[in-house]
Amino acid sequence: MVVTRTPLIAGNWKMNLDHLQAIAFVQKLDWALKDAKHDFASVEVAVFPPFTDLRSVQTLVSADKIEFAYGAQDLSAHASGAYTGEISGAFLSALGCGYVLVGHSERRQYHGETDELIAAKVKAAIAHGLVPVICVGETAGDLEEHGASAVPVAQLEAALAGLPKGADIVVAYEPVWAIGSGQAATPEQAEQVALPLRAVVGRVLGDAAAAKTRILYGGSVGASNIAGFMREPNIDGALVGGASLKINDFSAIIRYQKHVGV
Ligand code: PGA
Repeated sequence: MVVTRTPLIAGNWKMNLDHLQAIAFVQKLDWALKDAKHDFASVEVAVFPPFTDLRSVQTLVSADKIEFAYGAQDLSAHASGAYTGEISGAFLSALGCGYVLVGHSERRQYHGETDELIAAKVKAAIAHGLVPVICVGETAGDLEEHGASAVPVAQLEAALAGLPKGADIVVAYEPVWAIGSGQAATPEQAEQVALPLRAVVGRVLGDAAAAKTRILYGGSVGASNIAGFMREPNIDGALVGGASLKINDFSAIIRYQKHVGV
């Protein structure tokens, strides 16, 4: 079965850029990509701004016919109700989000998100027509104790529990020790985890889902190392933090095919 997966380059802004800064940034990124005649059918682009930026991004994207996708960095496991401070997937869909990050290591670490909560959020995302970008990854301690793949594999199994066959998801493998550290995994290390993660998708969601699901690498991705990751057969894109806030760096990452002749 030959399946081509469209690579996805995703920018996780984290808690950066207010809605006015977001408008300026999205405009500049759009100009840079239009100038470069970027073909969005060959490399998909998505940005993940803070919640308070999403309405402004939606307005701009529809007014300026901007071709990149956007999504939120989190969502509630609940659809509506007395959950102060939470954001429903329904609200994100209404703002035109296509994707939502779920289980980012900073949510797991600073907000105590458990595998159970993350599984509930994945279900909520799908119920509201959003594609969850499910983030998994081991800490430096996990790496030493269990090797690279055991923890991310267990996290993904938990996140997918109870989903129907064929569910539309994206997986982001982000070793916690590589996030924001400037110490990216090697492409070989990332591939060695991406392969068992794809096997998990196959076991839970079926072979067709395993063949079509994009697995991203994240953790200190930049213009100088993206190409190596993209050469790996099981890596289909990147989740980029710090470098996604710099127009030149992020557009160079998006255009990795041009600067390295992959
Ligand atoms: P980084 O962050 O690219 O700054 O390492 C990646 C992420 O946390 O998604």
